[in-house]
Amino acid sequence: MALYPAVQREAQAGIYHVLSNGTVPQLSDRLSLPYVDSECMMWEVLRWKPLAPLGLPHLLTKHDVYKDCYLPSGSIILVNIWSILQDLRMFPHPEMFNPSRFLDDKKALEIVDCIFGFGRRACPGVNFAESSMFIAIAIALSQYCNAAYPTPLTFKGKRSRTMSSIGLGQ
Ligand code: HEM
Repeated sequence: MALYPAVQREAQAGIYHVLSNGTVPQLSDRLSLPYVDSECMMWEVLRWKPLAPLGLPHLLTKHDVYKDCYLPSGSIILVNIWSILQDLRMFPHPEMFNPSRFLDDKKALEIVDCIFGFGRRACPGVNFAESSMFIAIAIALSQYCNAAYPTPLTFKGKRSRTMSSIGLGQ
């Protein structure tokens, strides 16, 4: 957020709009916060710096053919997820952190799903990971202030009940 204050402003404006009564975001707010949620910011975090850029190694139990390439049984296969997510044709200026690239782009969303792997061995933690990331991003943004947003979004003369109940933001 320090590198991309405009992105921070846009996400915080969305949170402020939805949660103007001073509560912190909850999982039930996901659909109301598309810029923070799966369609934008979270996927861009995952695309920009993928957690598992080469996925996990897979061993072929039978020979296979991919395009013109014969792959003997016993081969270890690594998928270059990083390069898929840096493809200039799908993600212009891939080095930039730009959540808006996912707005109204269903194809980009389909492709970025490869972050969690492929087929029957794809990541079983995907739903847990998505929910955890959404709530972490949304709560951090709702409470965080800097030059881009000088006051915490929940600041309305009183702190949000959740933050004060855990002894923060007195
Ligand atoms: C952003 C977070 C995460 C990312 C990007 C991620 C990514 C991946 C990837 C790329 C694979 C390899 C899939 C393949 O071989 O095709 C994988 C496998 C796996 N992940 Fe995740 N993962 C995440 C979070 C989690 C969480 C939270 C859990 C558990 C609660 C989890 C549990 C697993 C397990 C058990 C496997 C092995 C599945 C198998 O080999 O059958 N992951 N993950």
